[in-house]
Amino acid sequence: MQKTDHSERKKQHLEGCLRLARQQPPRELFFDHRLLPKAFPDLALGEVDPSTTFLGKRLTFSFMIGAMTGGFELGDDLNVQLARHARRAGVALALGSLRPFLTGAPMAPLLGLRRELGSELPLLGNISVWQLADPKVTAGLAELAVVASLDALMVHVNPIQELAQPEGQRNFRRVFEALERFVAGSTVPVFVKGTGEGFDDDAIQRLCTLPGLAGVETGGRGTCDFAAVERLRCENPVEALVAQSLEGLGRSAEGTFFAFKNLLPEEATLVFGGGVGGPRDMVKALALGAHLVSAASAPLLALTDGTLEIWLASMRESLSRHMLLLGCPNLERLRQGWAIEQRTLP
Ligand SMILES: Cc1cc2nc3c(=O)[nH]c(=O)nc-3n(C[C@H](O)[C@H](O)[C@H](O)COP(=O)(O)O)c2cc1C
Repeated sequence: MQKTDHSERKKQHLEGCLRLARQQPPRELFFDHRLLPKAFPDLALGEVDPSTTFLGKRLTFSFMIGAMTGGFELGDDLNVQLARHARRAGVALALGSLRPFLTGAPMAPLLGLRRELGSELPLLGNISVWQLADPKVTAGLAELAVVASLDALMVHVNPIQELAQPEGQRNFRRVFEALERFVAGSTVPVFVKGTGEGFDDDAIQRLCTLPGLAGVETGGRGTCDFAAVERLRCENPVEALVAQSLEGLGRSAEGTFFAFKNLLPEEATLVFGGGVGGPRDMVKALALGAHLVSAASAPLLALTDGTLEIWLASMRESLSRHMLLLGCPNLERLRQGWAIEQRTLP
């Protein structure tokens, strides 16, 4: 079986995600829903406020750069750039898995990120749910949250990717119990997030009744098919075919979102993430009730193209102009649901 260390694997994931994202034709999310522009919005752009509060901090608009990387040279460098862009744009930043920092990666790059982002914006750490059964990991995370001034931790759930990965998890027993203990004992808010695979109804039911959970990020089948990413890194032909057999599985981000929306307690935060390519996806998700929108692949592509600053600025400005067109002076109004409707068949 092919074995690689964590940092080499993360580098390969980064390259694989980029390669796949570049091949993906853009797809409009919530295609069966359409926004309802007003002919007479009776509002001025100066009255529109797309800002929001997340984890007690103010964002200039309702957006988070999604979890991707850290703990190896290229990943740390990308995080510095992402933190600078997040600061300039006034949005939240989620980091990729903190596992390397629990297993000896130099801490300085992680500690420096808070400086780059500033204290006014939310910084979220990340760990795989499969790690939570290990008390050393949970104790280490609590320490990292303090020393790196993290506002929250995100726990990602990705069984399809694990099974597509030659060195991945094969034992999924008692994982939810470990998650329950972790949420109950955490000193910082905990979110659970999908990756490229979304969540099934049973998982959604359990997460929505998990006491103390701060919120969820949908994830969903879309831009980043991690089984395909794993296939790209497989040297063993059997493993490559197994990974291929797992491609395209999982629930869409939209399906995951609607299921969460019905069940998530009022006080929990619903983050829509999974395939967000541009402003229209963000506006639709917010109009349908998401508190926050997150994207990983699109900002990563823009960063590597040198256009992330423009991309983020256009996301914010497009949101404001859409809000004006929809007659919504603030996000609370937009989230009420009357600015969007399900398309009816002709
Ligand atoms: C290069 C790359 C690395 C990622 N690494 C992580 C990770 O370490 N932890 C995590 O929770 N999600 C990770 N993700 C998943 C994203 O956070 C996100 O859930 C997923 O890519 C879907 O969003 P997108 O369509 O906007 O990319 C990664 C995504 C990319 C593109």
